[in-house]
Amino acid sequence: MATPKLVGISGSLRRTSHNTMLLAEAARLFGDAEYHQLDIDFPLYNGDVEDATGIPAVVKAAERKLAQADAVLISTTEYNSGPSGVLKNALDWISRVEGNPWNDKPVVVMSAAAGRAGGERAQVVLRGFLTAFRPRLLTGPQIHVAACHEEFDENERLKGEIYVRELGQLMDLLRKDIAR
Ligand SMILES: Cc1cc2nc3c(=O)[nH]c(=O)nc-3n(C[C@H](O)[C@H](O)[C@H](O)COP(=O)(O)O)c2cc1C
Repeated sequence: MATPKLVGISGSLRRTSHNTMLLAEAARLFGDAEYHQLDIDFPLYNGDVEDATGIPAVVKAAERKLAQADAVLISTTEYNSGPSGVLKNALDWISRVEGNPWNDKPVVVMSAAAGRAGGERAQVVLRGFLTAFRPRLLTGPQIHVAACHEEFDENERLKGEIYVRELGQLMDLLRKDIAR
């Protein structure tokens, strides 16, 4: 099989985002793969802008990358009990492009957040958002990294053995799902 293409989507645009770090850890644990993190720093969706100037090039490029991916990894932070607006905005814009890059695509969802639940509520909401796009959404192991500011070392590696083990299991399942 050709080297799998993985695309990551981080729900946080912060330069030192823990969700971006978690995605990089997931890609590392997946093993041999081409990994690309999607740029989702899109303008806010506004139907008037779409009518006047069409879908922004950055959105079209993101949709192309998604369509070409063998699997997609999404890590969301939790803002006020849900996924970030940045992530929802990206899903909304991408849904405006013709075709559906998510259809039957293996997708894993994870989260890292400061709170004790590690973004679990945001993940539940995010899974609901994704359902309409009909991906092959893996159900677990569920990864929600709590107190995320304490869970990565100076090399941006996950410290907790349980997180590493379960994320590795999730990546093994993803690899099998891609080969399906
Ligand atoms: C507007 C806002 C709302 C937040 N709400 C929550 C929340 O509901 N639950 C939680 O665990 N953390 C919450 N946090 C803290 C985030 O989990 C924390 O900032 C986290 O590090 C963000 O992820 P990142 O490192 O990938 O940017 C909130 C942070 C912000 C800025």
